[in-house]
Amino acid sequence: MTVLNDFRLRLGDDEYLPLMLGGMGVDISTADLALEACRLGGIGHLSDAMAPWVSDRKFKTHFTKTKSGRYKFNRDNVDKSEIKFNLEELYNATLKVVSAAVERKTGDGGLFINVMEKLTMGAAADTLGTRLRAALDAGIDGITLSAGLHNATLKLIKDHPRFHEVKIGIIVSSVRALKIFIRSALKMDRLPDYAVVEGPLAGGHLGFGEDWADFDLKKIVSEVLDYVKDEKLDIPVIPAGGIFTGTDAVEYMEMGCAAVQVATRFTVTEECGLPERVKQRYLAAEEEDIVVNSLSATGYLMRMLKYSPAIGSNYKPQCEPLGYTLSSQGTCLYLDAYHATGFDENGKKLPVEDKICLCHHFGQHNVWTCGQNTYRLKDTTNKLPDGSYQLLTAEHVFNDYLYSENHKIALPELQAVRA
Ligand SMILES: Cc1cc2nc3c(=O)[nH]c(=O)nc-3n(C[C@H](O)[C@H](O)[C@H](O)COP(=O)(O)O)c2cc1C
Repeated sequence: MTVLNDFRLRLGDDEYLPLMLGGMGVDISTADLALEACRLGGIGHLSDAMAPWVSDRKFKTHFTKTKSGRYKFNRDNVDKSEIKFNLEELYNATLKVVSAAVERKTGDGGLFINVMEKLTMGAAADTLGTRLRAALDAGIDGITLSAGLHNATLKLIKDHPRFHEVKIGIIVSSVRALKIFIRSALKMDRLPDYAVVEGPLAGGHLGFGEDWADFDLKKIVSEVLDYVKDEKLDIPVIPAGGIFTGTDAVEYMEMGCAAVQVATRFTVTEECGLPERVKQRYLAAEEEDIVVNSLSATGYLMRMLKYSPAIGSNYKPQCEPLGYTLSSQGTCLYLDAYHATGFDENGKKLPVEDKICLCHHFGQHNVWTCGQNTYRLKDTTNKLPDGSYQLLTAEHVFNDYLYSENHKIALPELQAVRA
């Protein structure tokens, strides 16, 4: 019987196992997790989301404090248009986070980074260009552009010495979005090395509207495969979203895909950056606990567990220290929702129902974003005598994708009961 391990992904001169671990911000796809995928011969993604914050936590740097101090005068000001990231600090933070991972790289796989356009950071083009340059200078193997059409992104790095050497991919949710990107890529004489086609069952932000449930990943993938073939484009197609077993993956490989991108199954691994208590909530989740809502301050729909602590929080906007979702004009949908929310009879701010302060709550792991198949995670491991679930190793999940047959999922060896 054919298994995923029977296939290989070729990107230029490089060959990988056809399993990509998708980027999960903020530091959910940690360096430890991405490096495991890389060591095992696949592709692992870091995420560059909130790199200054991540650097402060991991390396005891002070990027967030410094920025907060610089804009202290503005904390009670409704107008946030003056708040900007210092580009040198942003560069240094991103360089630090990415270099620290690149230096630890082992194995024949690839260490890539997921870079979201929607993280506008008060000056969209300048900050995006800075983040990309830092990742390139740090020696990242590949860049996956996500959360946006990215039709002006390649221009930002076209003069970088590694522009033609680094692998560049784009995440799209329709053939139309891919066409838009290809048009801009042709102008830069730089076609993408791969295209990830993300369907409506993925975790994180969705590239669909309220009618997301009407879309089907296999159908979109087959449209993209036809387009690539008709245009004679040599662009490997990599589906993502809801690919839960190795057999699911093989079905896509047999359609003509080059690899698969997965994430949800890795959220309950030891190497994943979510706190253990949150991993246990993912493992215990039931199907009805998983919702798609419009609470993200980016304006995209997002899938999450319905009891994510961030929902209904009235946390004061943290644009001075954070401010990752501010537009170039200093606006953010959470700011609007916060100021539109009234007070109770005791003068206490009511819950902000419409939006979430993504910067604060992602940083605190209070937004429990997840793929639609999260409710199946409990079937991938052992329930322990204390009622909790055994966490998995990334290696175990990776190998299960590679060797699974007939949708079977191998359980890990039962861990010794904790003292
Ligand atoms: C917890 C979580 C966080 C995610 N964060 C991001 C992100 O920051 N940027 C992004 O482009 N995709 C993000 N994704 C999407 C994944 O990279 C991936 O494409 C998708 O979830 C694959 O589907 P699956 O989770 O069903 O395997 C996230 C997914 C999860 C589960």
